[in-house]
Amino acid sequence: MPTTPPPLINLHAFEAAAAERLPRMVYDYYAGGANDEVSLRGTRQAWDNLAIRYRVLQDVADRSLRTTVLGHKLEWPVFVAPMAFQRLATPEGEVATARAAAQSGAGMILSTLSTCTIEAVRAATDGPLWFQLYIYRDRGVTADLVRRAEQAGCSALVLTVDTPLLGRRERDLLNGFHVPSDIPVPNLGVDIRDTLASQQSTASALGTFIERYWDASIAWRDLAWLQSITSLPILVKGVVRGDDARRALDHGAAGVIVSNHGARQLDTALATARALPECADAMAGEGVLMVDGGIRRGTDVLKALALGAQAVLLGRPVLWGLAVNGREGAFDVMALLKAECDLAFALAGCRTTADVTRDLIAQPA
Ligand code: GLV
Repeated sequence: MPTTPPPLINLHAFEAAAAERLPRMVYDYYAGGANDEVSLRGTRQAWDNLAIRYRVLQDVADRSLRTTVLGHKLEWPVFVAPMAFQRLATPEGEVATARAAAQSGAGMILSTLSTCTIEAVRAATDGPLWFQLYIYRDRGVTADLVRRAEQAGCSALVLTVDTPLLGRRERDLLNGFHVPSDIPVPNLGVDIRDTLASQQSTASALGTFIERYWDASIAWRDLAWLQSITSLPILVKGVVRGDDARRALDHGAAGVIVSNHGARQLDTALATARALPECADAMAGEGVLMVDGGIRRGTDVLKALALGAQAVLLGRPVLWGLAVNGREGAFDVMALLKAECDLAFALAGCRTTADVTRDLIAQPA
């Protein structure tokens, strides 16, 4: 007898449903982390480990999750994280994600490893859209991408700084992860057929690509170079230390995204929930501060704001929504999380994001 699938009651259920639908190679690529996946589990767990000192009797009958980040008005404090190869989840790819994000009043960060063009994604909505990039050995390729993002109308750049080389993802090595040749990757600025699309039995094609084209020698000086070729604000993504967060601001960044790259790079790296307070302290209210990694519940969003973030990045759950039901599925994931956020605000005694302050988080016992 066919079993009835469990109702999609939370983001975990979306992941289970997506795991049933996606080819193994794709599910593992999205879901996996580096090495033993210690950081993957720990980054999720770190949110659960924080206890909320909720306030009572605060008259929370009228509430709002609205916020403004870098001048963008958001219905709730969320951007979709930059994630690669979204056409592996649904035929419309990143265009579907952009539509879902705009419909829910969230922003979106488009990955360089997108399977839709920057121009198509920008044309799909008028919601906030930022472009994520890496620095190539050939600076001309990066400069061209920056120009395209500017001309398309993206309003900020997100420089990922935690990937001088690709982390070792054993699921991808075992599956010979590659991008099937009918899936375009049109924003790379280089021809991928010789690397990304080539199937090898015990190697990740992405690792081969990155080693060949991206620059492992990038350093703080390259942030100055990037600024010299664009007038867009730049956010530095992949920071887990207060001194690095401060250095990013001192080098002219408009903001910092506390992230360990979804635990896909350095295994046993610090959980972002633990890194966030020291980054907030070091930045002392200057610049934009955001965080990602393991956000699965409305209470996680509340905790991130309490620890100093202005917004969070939501990653894998959006892919699970896409895999389950394209744009609508991604929207459903965001609607679920938004409703959870609203409830978390109410039960914690918060009417607006301004009420979400650090005293809501209990000191560890
Ligand atoms: C790409 O950035 C990845 O994490 O696979």
